[in-house]
Amino acid sequence: MSSQKSLFRRKTIAAILQNPPADHEGHASGLARHLTVRDLTALGIAAIIGAGIFSTIGKASLDGGPAVSLLFVFTAVACAFSALCYAQFAATIPVSGSAYTYAYASFGELAAWIIGWALIMEYAVGNIVVAISWSDYFTGLLDGIGIHIPDYLSTGTQSAYQGYHSALNAMIAHQPLTAAQEASYKLWATAPLLFGDFHLVCDLPAFLITVLITALVYVGIKESKNASNLLVLLKLIVVFVVIAVGAFYVQPANWTPFAPNGVSGVLKGVSAVFFAYIGFDAISTTAEECKNPQRDLPKAMMYALVICTVLYVIITLVLTGMVSYKELGVGDPLSFVFAKVGLSRLSGLVAVSAVFAMASVLLVFQLGQPRIWLTMSRDGLLPSVFSKIHPRFHTPSFSTIVTGFFVAVPALVLNMDLVVDLTSIGTLFAFALVCGGILIIDPYGKSEARFKVPYINGQWLVPLILAIGAFLVVRYNAASNHEFWLDASGQHGWLQTDAVSGKVTGGFAHQIPTLVFFLFCIGLSVLSFRKKLSLLPVLGLLINLYLMTELGISNWTLFFVWLLIGLAVYFGYGYRNSRLNPAVG
Ligand code: ALA
Repeated sequence: MSSQKSLFRRKTIAAILQNPPADHEGHASGLARHLTVRDLTALGIAAIIGAGIFSTIGKASLDGGPAVSLLFVFTAVACAFSALCYAQFAATIPVSGSAYTYAYASFGELAAWIIGWALIMEYAVGNIVVAISWSDYFTGLLDGIGIHIPDYLSTGTQSAYQGYHSALNAMIAHQPLTAAQEASYKLWATAPLLFGDFHLVCDLPAFLITVLITALVYVGIKESKNASNLLVLLKLIVVFVVIAVGAFYVQPANWTPFAPNGVSGVLKGVSAVFFAYIGFDAISTTAEECKNPQRDLPKAMMYALVICTVLYVIITLVLTGMVSYKELGVGDPLSFVFAKVGLSRLSGLVAVSAVFAMASVLLVFQLGQPRIWLTMSRDGLLPSVFSKIHPRFHTPSFSTIVTGFFVAVPALVLNMDLVVDLTSIGTLFAFALVCGGILIIDPYGKSEARFKVPYINGQWLVPLILAIGAFLVVRYNAASNHEFWLDASGQHGWLQTDAVSGKVTGGFAHQIPTLVFFLFCIGLSVLSFRKKLSLLPVLGLLINLYLMTELGISNWTLFFVWLLIGLAVYFGYGYRNSRLNPAVG
C-alpha cells in the first residue's frame, strides 16, 4: 500500500462491528451490557447539565444580556444537526469510540486519529473545566458552613500567577488595585514556598474530586450508572425549583435592552454556551454497554438534547429577568440570583446541587475518555495496554487511570477560561467531522441504518440559506464590530494582544478563520448544488465551523499545536502499529 493511500485506509463498517469481543452478556473479555434508553438519557443529561449552566453562563450573560437565550437556541439547533448525525452513526456502528470510530469508517485512518485526538479536548480537557468549577462551588459551600480551605490550596497555579502579575502591572502603572487583583497579590505573595522559591498554590479540591470519580468509574459501569441516575434526578429537581421559584421574581423590565452589546456581545458567549451543551454525544461511547444500542442511542441523544435546551432557555430568561445582566458576571450565577432577591436558603440549596451536578458531569466524561482510548488501542493506534479490561470490574482499567491523571494534575494548576475555549474548539471540530462523515457515508439518505438523518435535498436550499446567513452576518455582526478589518482599538493591524493574558484580541489575523470559513461556504454551496447533498448534515457542518470561527485566532493556534503533537504521535506510533497496516495485520 502506498503511504499516501495508507493514510486514508478505512475500516469497513463490517470490520468495525466485529472489533469488540463477541460477548454480549458481559462476560470476562467484553464490557458489561447494562444500559437502557432511560439510563442513556440520564447519562446524557448527567453530561450536559453542569459547569456550563451553573457557572460559565454568568459571564456569557454579562457580555450578551438576555439575548444569550437566543444563542442557546441557535447553539441547540447546531447541536441537534450534529446529534442527528451522531445518532445515524451510532445506529450504523454501535461500538465504543464515538466520533473516532465514525471517522474511521468515513474519512479513513488519519482523520480518525485526528478526531480521536481532538476528542481528548472534549472529554479530558472539558473535565478539567468541570473539576475547577466544582472546586469553586465546593469551597464556597464549605465557607458557608464555616470551614475554610486556605486559598493557596483551592486556587489554580496559573490563575494565581496571572492575577499576581496583573496586580504588579497595575502597581507599576500607579493604578489602584481591584479587589480581585489585591486578593491574587496577597495569595501569591503569602503562599508557602517549596524548595526555596516555588510558590505552593494549587487547586486541591479539583484534584481530589477527579481522583474520587476516577475510582468510581474504575470499579464499574453498573455502579457508575446507579450513581449517575441518582445525581441526575437530584439535578433536575433543583433546576425545576430554580425555574418555578425564580419565575415569580422576574421583572420584565430587566429584559430591556435585550441585546445591550449587540450581536458581537452575544457571540462572545459562544464558547460558554456551547460548553453547556457538550455531553449529549458522550453517551455514544457506551455503545458496547447498551442493551440495544441501535434503537436506544439515537433516542436517548435526542431526548437529552431537547430536555436540556428547553431548560437552558428558560433558565437564561429567568436569570436575566431576576436581576440586571450587568450583575451576572459571577462564577455561581444560579445561586447568586437567589441570594440577591433575599432567598438565601434556596441560594444555598442551588449551590449544593451544583456540586452534585458537576460531579455527575465529571463521571460521564471520566467514563467516556477511556472507552475512546480503548477503541483506538484495539485498532492498534495506541499501545495494547489501553484496551486492557479489568478481569473483575469489566472496565478499561489502564485507560481509566491514565484519564484520571490527565484530568487531575492539570486541574491543580490550569486557568479555567483557557480550558473552556480549548474544550469548545476541540468539540466543535469533532462535531463538524461527524456531520461531514454522514455526507461521505450517506450523502443522499439512502442508508439502511435503523436510524438515519432525514434527507432534504440541499441543491437550492444550501446556497439560499448561506446567502441569507451571509447577509445577516454582514448586516449585524460585522457592522457591530464597526469594521471587519480593524482591531479592537479601531486600528489597522495584523495582531493585537492583551497585555495581561497575552491573548490575541483583534487585528487582521483574528479574522483569518472567518475568511477561510467564507471560502469553504462557497465551495460547499457549489458542491451541494451539483451533488444535491443532504441539507441537514451540510448545515450541521457549517454551523459547527461557524461557531469555531467565533473562538478567535489564539485558540485556533493552540488547537493547531495540539493537532501537530497528535500527528507526531500518530506517525511515531499509530501509523506503523495500526491493525490496517498489512505488516501488522
Ligand atoms: N456540558 C457540560 C457542562 O456544562 C460539559 O459542564
